[in-house]
Amino acid sequence: MPNPTNPNPNSKDRGRFQWRAPSNIALIKYWGKKINVNVNVNTDQLPATPSISFTLENSYTEIDFSYERDESLSEFSIESMQFFFENSEQPKFQDKIYKFLKKVEGEFPFLKKYRLKIKSSNSFPHSAGIASSASSMAALALCLLSLEKVNNNSTNDEKEFLRRASEIARSFSGSAARSIYGNFVLWGESEFFPGVSSDHWAIPLSEHLKIHKNFSQMMDAVLIVDSSVKKVSSSAGHALMNEHPFKEGRYQSANKRIGQLAKVLESGDYDEFIEIVESEALTLHALMMSSSPYYLLLKPESLVLMEKIWEFRRESKIPLCFTIDAGPNIHLIYPAQYYQRVRDFIELQLAHYLDKRNWICDEMGTGPAMIIEK
Ligand code: DP6
Repeated sequence: MPNPTNPNPNSKDRGRFQWRAPSNIALIKYWGKKINVNVNVNTDQLPATPSISFTLENSYTEIDFSYERDESLSEFSIESMQFFFENSEQPKFQDKIYKFLKKVEGEFPFLKKYRLKIKSSNSFPHSAGIASSASSMAALALCLLSLEKVNNNSTNDEKEFLRRASEIARSFSGSAARSIYGNFVLWGESEFFPGVSSDHWAIPLSEHLKIHKNFSQMMDAVLIVDSSVKKVSSSAGHALMNEHPFKEGRYQSANKRIGQLAKVLESGDYDEFIEIVESEALTLHALMMSSSPYYLLLKPESLVLMEKIWEFRRESKIPLCFTIDAGPNIHLIYPAQYYQRVRDFIELQLAHYLDKRNWICDEMGTGPAMIIEK
């Protein structure tokens, strides 16, 4: 029954949709944010430098989002929402999600008239040491954009829908901006992509580059060295860049590497790809070790894995390399055609160094998908 007090007679009063959004792995890292005095969606979480990632396929978050319009509500409060993580109510996560939604309330003024039930679950175990913020915040942003569409009967322009989703996801967690698109993704304004790149949202690189077939299907084997929660959050790490003694050098090199990697993605040069990607990973950790206060997230096993990967690459001539996020786990990046040999290498030579021999086989994916719309 349409609600007679609903100002938009075309909108539905209740409904449900489910979005699946994948995680992504950065090749050129986002590390450092523009200093921001006014915290709002437009200025929050703008990156100090651009970054490039590829989107994963198997590591994703699904958010099941039910809404019901209630004209008696006059503001969006925590009582208007229920949040479930992996099917159980989690007050700590609920508070976090509520804060995120409050942050974007100005963008979605209709939120105050809704009761929401949000159920989130990940395809990867919570303890896998994979950051779920990119996938979960991308999924949440897509749900909000879908609710906006229902409510306003707004734009059917898919490009604009995704651009806005990326912008909202970015305001929740920077790297989530990239999870809105599949394959290789650029986020942040870059001199190499004038007029199309932005600090506010990400863009799919395949629309601006002709990606060489050598990079058409990349794999990411996530080698789990340690699955415990990080000692220093990424947000705290970003903040330490503000006063970092090597900040200027880092920002210059990250900007330059965007151009280098873009060129390599077109030329298909594996050697240069490997050099850029591994150097980025080591630079990220070198920045952590040289910030004030300094800290170290790598474990002895992380170093052993890096050495083993170098040795195997020398011997096998397979163009595989590693990257590392803000944690001790190693992402082994390689072209899909070498899957069997790399799998054997992991099982025979690396698994022994992993937490319960645990690793996740992932690959480049095509981006988010709406699974249910009712
Ligand atoms: C090392 O996106 O988690 O993974 O914006 O504070 O939520 P916030 O940080 P987050 O930082 C990710 C850092 C990184 C590199 C990257 O993904 O580019």
